[in-house]
Amino acid sequence: MEKQPVALVHLGIIMDGNGRWAQKRSLPRTAGHLEGLKAVKRIILAAAEQGIGFVTFYAFSTENWKRSAEEVNYLMHLFVSKLHGEIGFYNKHGIRVLVKGDIAGLPPQVQTAIEKTVEETSTNTSITAIIAINYGGRDEICRAVNTFMQKNPGTAISENSLASYLDLPQLPPVDMIVRSANERRLSNFLLWDSAYAELAFYEKLWPDWNGDDIQHICTEYGKRVRKFGGVQ
Ligand code: FPP
Repeated sequence: MEKQPVALVHLGIIMDGNGRWAQKRSLPRTAGHLEGLKAVKRIILAAAEQGIGFVTFYAFSTENWKRSAEEVNYLMHLFVSKLHGEIGFYNKHGIRVLVKGDIAGLPPQVQTAIEKTVEETSTNTSITAIIAINYGGRDEICRAVNTFMQKNPGTAISENSLASYLDLPQLPPVDMIVRSANERRLSNFLLWDSAYAELAFYEKLWPDWNGDDIQHICTEYGKRVRKFGGVQ
């Protein structure tokens, strides 16, 4: 019998190339981020259409604070104005929004926008979009270890017990991580899940992504044989 391709349940996306997209058009880098947000919306809809249940977007890393104040402020403004500002879009299309990362380290207005958006989309069921903000894989693991040690003093950490202290432990693990703009590294994204996630890298800059790219990703994932260290 022919092997049926396994469905892609959880996709992780490293959105790269917003700056280059803007530079090519002699626009400020911020214009690339605004266009990148439009791509986020297109890709959520396309992923829902393909039956993908969860998409995690790397929107702001723990290292992105090193960028210019203008760029950081613009991205924070996008999180305030376009997370809760797009609530109508999320609710119209049944999109549940979750956020992962060190939320306590974000400006209060961003924290409020996150809380309201998560709360007001919590009953949506078409797809879950997870936005990683002030997120770093190493930071996530350190935060989990610290919480574990506070709650279980003197107990040795196991993989299973630590996993339940990572961000959003109720979600299925990320099956595939993709990156745009021809860069081939993980840049501190989802380090725990990437132990066995499939990887794929694409040339297209993030603001140019559309539904065809999601279709290619699903086809590519269907060709992968996942062994998790075992034998197929
Ligand atoms: C990487 O491209 C992109 C980012 C660091 C920001 C991505 C954020 C968004 C698209 C906004 C999402 C907002 C919401 C509300 C979901 P880069 O700037 O590093 O590109 P470059 O390598 O070409 O300079």
